[in-house]
Amino acid sequence: MASILVIDDDREHLSAVADILTKTGYEVKATDDGETGLKEIEENDYDLILTDLMMPKVDGLDILRQAIAVSPKSKCIILTGYGTIRGSVEAMKKGAFDYITKPMTSNELLPTVEKALQFKHLEEENLRLKRELRKRYRESYIIGTSEGMKRLYHFIEKVADTDCTVLITGGSGTGKELIARAIHYDSHRRDKPMVTINCGAIPTELLESELFGHEKGAFTGAHKRRIGRFEMADGGTIFLDEVGEMSPALQVKLLRVLQEQTFERVGGTHTIHVDVRIIAATNKNLSQAINNEKFREDLYYRLNVIPIKVPSLKQRKEDIPLLITFFLNKFQRGKEKRDLGFSPQALEALLEYDWPGNVRELENFIKRMIILCDNDVIELSDLPEHLQYRSSTIREPDVETPEQGRTLNDAVRDYEKRLILEALEKSRGVKAKAAKLLNIKRTTLIEKMKKQNLTGNVSG
Ligand SMILES: Nc1ncnc2c1ncn2[C@@H]1O[C@H](COP(=O)(O)OP(=O)(O)OP(=O)(O)O)[C@@H](O)[C@H]1O
Ligand SMILES: [Mg+2]
Repeated sequence: MASILVIDDDREHLSAVADILTKTGYEVKATDDGETGLKEIEENDYDLILTDLMMPKVDGLDILRQAIAVSPKSKCIILTGYGTIRGSVEAMKKGAFDYITKPMTSNELLPTVEKALQFKHLEEENLRLKRELRKRYRESYIIGTSEGMKRLYHFIEKVADTDCTVLITGGSGTGKELIARAIHYDSHRRDKPMVTINCGAIPTELLESELFGHEKGAFTGAHKRRIGRFEMADGGTIFLDEVGEMSPALQVKLLRVLQEQTFERVGGTHTIHVDVRIIAATNKNLSQAINNEKFREDLYYRLNVIPIKVPSLKQRKEDIPLLITFFLNKFQRGKEKRDLGFSPQALEALLEYDWPGNVRELENFIKRMIILCDNDVIELSDLPEHLQYRSSTIREPDVETPEQGRTLNDAVRDYEKRLILEALEKSRGVKAKAAKLLNIKRTTLIEKMKKQNLTGNVSG
């Protein structure tokens, strides 16, 4: 039930209005004294406030001002006598929802009251949806219910809406960029840009102008002024990926941005101020880089205000089934959707495997399976060989000679097979790499694999 406060020094009119509203089913508080009205607004959250405009001591505009200040969600309707319309227009400019002229019938009063309440309801609904949407980034894009991931979510929720610098560490493909996105889109900066730059992928000479922009003529080829990523990200977030790759000279400049939020464009003298939240990521061990004098210690401490370590997939294998389902749905969308799944043996092999490339490797693997497998159930034999034999065949070599004896050739053959499989697993099925590990030629490896009947369905 909506609550309404009515304030009018004309008692007769006050009780008439209160009557109509009470009979309609609203919870009504009526007062003929402006000061009591102010106190009521301070103490209670009314959905709607109806106030007379002209009153002694405290008038309608005072009431409106108080409502906006202490109870901003309440709507305000001005009750106005003949001849004071101008005052009501003034009140509307200051934030009143509407005005009604006195005296009024219930037909004049109720539609406006309902409209105001409906408006308030919509505003609240809108706010609620926005809040929900805000949660959604993390909830709909980051998969995992393991303890490690739960801890991560907790962290994201805590830090997202602050302006703190965050340093995300973790192996390749663990989801560092995804987490940076969640932090940005779950922060108050979400409507402003998130600008990403991979410090490892841009040649050192170009990185400075990429980050800070340059003035016309700053260097050969600088035909025009160009703004850098920091300026593009103003008001939003910059994601400095592979920050460990930054050159020492640039590290100094970055340190200054972190300390003062200011910089100059390359070739420029004008100091530019930006409001940018910095999220950095690295899969390097920065402490080691500091010891080797590759990374500045002072910069490290500035970046590492909030450290977030993303667990490897190996550390959270219980999330693998969820991730598989997520990716199967993701990549089958739009196409004719199959009810694709893995056989228990295949799933076991996937759980057994260590996923050195983490979630990205799993993601690419599922993509491949969708394309390659015609059957709805993916069997163990459909998996790439480095996944297939992991659980069943890789054991310590059996060096004991069994009672019944065995030929040396068989034993050597077995041993060779295991070594090949191990190398294939380590190289994730890339034969050239596996051959290198075994110190043999790629062609020799392929020949041996043929002899061992190790022809998988995925080449590399
Ligand atoms: N928890 C997760 N849930 C769903 N998808 C994930 C998750 N973690 C990672 N991914 C997906 O895996 C891929 C790799 O993630 P991302 O690029 O964020 O990793 P990264 O740690 O930045 O890797 P790199 O170190 O190689 O840059 C992306 O497609 C991402 O959407
Ligand atoms: Mg990345």
